[in-house]
Amino acid sequence: MRRLLITNAKALVGVHPAGVERVAGPSMAVLPTIAAGWLLAEDGLITAVGSMAAPPPLGDRHGLTVIDADGRLVLPGWCDPHTHVVFAAPREEEFVDKVRGLSYQDIAARGGGILNSARKLRAMPEDALVEQATGRLRDMMRQGTVAVEIKSGYGLSAESELKMLRVMKRLKEVLPLRIKATLLAAHALPPEFADDRTGYVRMITEELLPQVAAEGLADYTDVFCETGYFTVAEMERILEAGLRHGLAGKVHVNQFTSLGGIAAAVRQGARSVDHLEVMAEDDLAALAGSATIPTLLPSCSFFLRIPYAPARALVDRGCAVALASDHNPGSTPSGNMNLVLSLACIQLRLLPEEAVNAATLNAAAAMDLAGELGSLTPGKRASLLITRKVPSLAYLPYAFGTDHLDTVIIDGIPVRAGDALA
Ligand code: NIG
Ligand code: FE
Repeated sequence: MRRLLITNAKALVGVHPAGVERVAGPSMAVLPTIAAGWLLAEDGLITAVGSMAAPPPLGDRHGLTVIDADGRLVLPGWCDPHTHVVFAAPREEEFVDKVRGLSYQDIAARGGGILNSARKLRAMPEDALVEQATGRLRDMMRQGTVAVEIKSGYGLSAESELKMLRVMKRLKEVLPLRIKATLLAAHALPPEFADDRTGYVRMITEELLPQVAAEGLADYTDVFCETGYFTVAEMERILEAGLRHGLAGKVHVNQFTSLGGIAAAVRQGARSVDHLEVMAEDDLAALAGSATIPTLLPSCSFFLRIPYAPARALVDRGCAVALASDHNPGSTPSGNMNLVLSLACIQLRLLPEEAVNAATLNAAAAMDLAGELGSLTPGKRASLLITRKVPSLAYLPYAFGTDHLDTVIIDGIPVRAGDALA
């Protein structure tokens, strides 16, 4: 048996009781912690946690690795439930245009944006896409991410969307972090269907989705429900087709305009509604009391200079807010969840405890992984972070832009080995 013992943690953070698979409303501020803690993992699963006042009974030390955390914090690894990390090329030329004053919509209107990424992705072979995405995901693992959702949406044809999903299948096979795949064929209307919106939606629902489902290539469906992209009615058609094939929705809504997409997605039992930078009272009311998770993407707001989502209002309505990076070449060229944590506190005004819950347990829940990730609970995967020596939990989001991580462990195996392992 492979055993890992972490001793002398300044604190084990996020030790939620078994069975707690999300925290909502006022409970988001509750982040159970064991001061001066130890954690035992066996064959990649957490089997026990406790306080150094009562050290673990170890018996035979065969196969045991001991990490003396020596005053460092131990946290569950970050879960990132909204990314687009499979893409063919960055778009820094559009970034310079943005610096000069163009908006996301101005750039899209000039043929840039998602269609720019689609042209490049269609031309790129599967192997090259796997290689590039692997590099991005390795960087994200070093930054503490242990689970990620990845969307298609730069193919915009049956063939190229399937290519993206097959890339994700290969990433699942070669990388240690957990990956969930989402079909986002309705990300933009491709030029071939410029005069036939209905035809494109029909292609997704009648041709692509059945094949994706038959091959088990996706876990969710997604739609960019937005002015100039897809309407609420089109989103409903796609979500409904997804449900017929057993795929729940995780949708892009209210990034630039409030169209009523949130209420519609909630009615269709969407797992999450993501972005929410522009919210009307009806949108907030639709989420109150629903099981749909609002997933907020503050590094997208930062990069595009658009409003930040009303996180406090969502917590006040009793929601289980989650955080994600939105890593993509157009609106968020960063998959760094540590920065997301800082922006969540600084700009969304989440408390550090709320932000950690949102980036771990609730983020895991947003991809149906809360039974195996998101807290330091015995029975869950030993996928965790050991920080550098920091004075407190609040110091992590406070000292933004600094790398606070020492060691990152996925399923009991270090993917980044720092001083704690030496
Ligand atoms: O989440 N808003 C739509 N999709 C992405 C951006 C995609 C792109 O610009 O390439 C987002 O921000
Ligand atoms: Fe996105």
